[in-house]
Amino acid sequence: MPSTVIVGTQWGDEGKGKVTDFLAERADVVVRYQGGNNAGHTVVVGEEEFRLRLVPSGILYPEKLCLLGNGMVIDPEALVTEMEELEARGVSTANLRISDRAHLILPYHKRLDELEEMGRGKGKIGTTGRGIGPAYNDKSARIGIRTADLLDPAEFHEKLKANVELKNHYLKQVFGVEGFSAAAIEERVLALAEKFKDRITDTSVVLHDALRAGKNILFEGAQGTFLDLDHGTYPFVTSSHPTAGGACIGSGVGPTAITKVIGVVKAYTTRVGSGPFPTELRDSIGDRLRERGHEFGTVTGRPRRCGWLDAVMLRYAARVSGLTGIAITKLDVLDGLDTVKICTGYRIKGEVTEYFPASLKAVESAEPVYEELPGWSESIGAATRLEDLPANTRRYLDRIAELIGVPIILVSVGQRRNQTLVLEDLF
Ligand code: IMP
Repeated sequence: MPSTVIVGTQWGDEGKGKVTDFLAERADVVVRYQGGNNAGHTVVVGEEEFRLRLVPSGILYPEKLCLLGNGMVIDPEALVTEMEELEARGVSTANLRISDRAHLILPYHKRLDELEEMGRGKGKIGTTGRGIGPAYNDKSARIGIRTADLLDPAEFHEKLKANVELKNHYLKQVFGVEGFSAAAIEERVLALAEKFKDRITDTSVVLHDALRAGKNILFEGAQGTFLDLDHGTYPFVTSSHPTAGGACIGSGVGPTAITKVIGVVKAYTTRVGSGPFPTELRDSIGDRLRERGHEFGTVTGRPRRCGWLDAVMLRYAARVSGLTGIAITKLDVLDGLDTVKICTGYRIKGEVTEYFPASLKAVESAEPVYEELPGWSESIGAATRLEDLPANTRRYLDRIAELIGVPIILVSVGQRRNQTLVLEDLF
């Protein structure tokens, strides 16, 4: 029963898409367990670049089963657009299955995301504007509409009518804006559902059957540890659980079903949206990382904030997800730097701590304690084995593994599938 969870260890955008795509080749089933089209995974296959938002990267392999788990929030517009885009490029979506318990993102969620974000003024979260938070709000308020409801138009009609009434009242009273027509949403969403309703099923059962048959399962986390609703830099987080525990809740398997947890670590740190970021570089090195690493959001195109690697964050990520191995990505982006720094602790009110604080004020005031290592002038993109890497690059990797206390099992030195060094059996 080999099943592996992939999680982001930072603020998302760690390069999980490439690692997932790489591991998907060895998997039989690929499952997404949280989030929605706020995620954006870029996968390069030959000369082609695919930008996936909802659909797991496994879709690029025709024989893999791809599941959208119950922990996800699904925008029917986005799903159909993505399916059509994939199909237009010759990628079949026949093996896609959608949980009947996943919640829907509807037009009023997107509008509320936009308006609530504007209302936050200076305290804005910097959401992707995809309606993610408002859809999860409805889920926890127990008024959400699920994909199963699309299979029962009368039920969908009733629930939608009640929700639109409620939302229209809120939109008018709080924001003074016009509301939505339930009939128009109903017509549009039911038309879109024609394209995917045959894929809606109990994906937990599909997953259990696969586990019983000894298949390899890959759970693909979106976003990252520090965007987790419980474990992230709250309130500058997303509304789901990207950490490994989320894989169980969001797909309908117990913790005993999981054998490995791989944390994806970008060789430096980035963040989109607001919130504290202790190792942020607001200088020419930060600009250099952004340019060389193409650090612009896949979903929104926003420039990402860039900084040095933060081992305080990584140790925290290793702890809350129980990492068994780490995959380092974008190591080549550091080529040509004289020195590279790793943050090993935070100095807060004169005291050095190795633990990531809950208080955002404390994180904001944290002065990073750095360890400086020699950089490397060589381009490492052609390396195929660990031994091909310059001594200083290996020293950087060794130090990361030592500081986190988790072995490195994979290193990515470029966007292409063959620019990947595999150090340990992955499944
Ligand atoms: P939301 O998920 O759209 O509600 O956004 C909440 C926070 O999570 C914002 O700071 C977003 O920038 C961030 N976020 C959401 N999805 C991603 C992602 O896939 N990568 C990086 N940041 C993300």
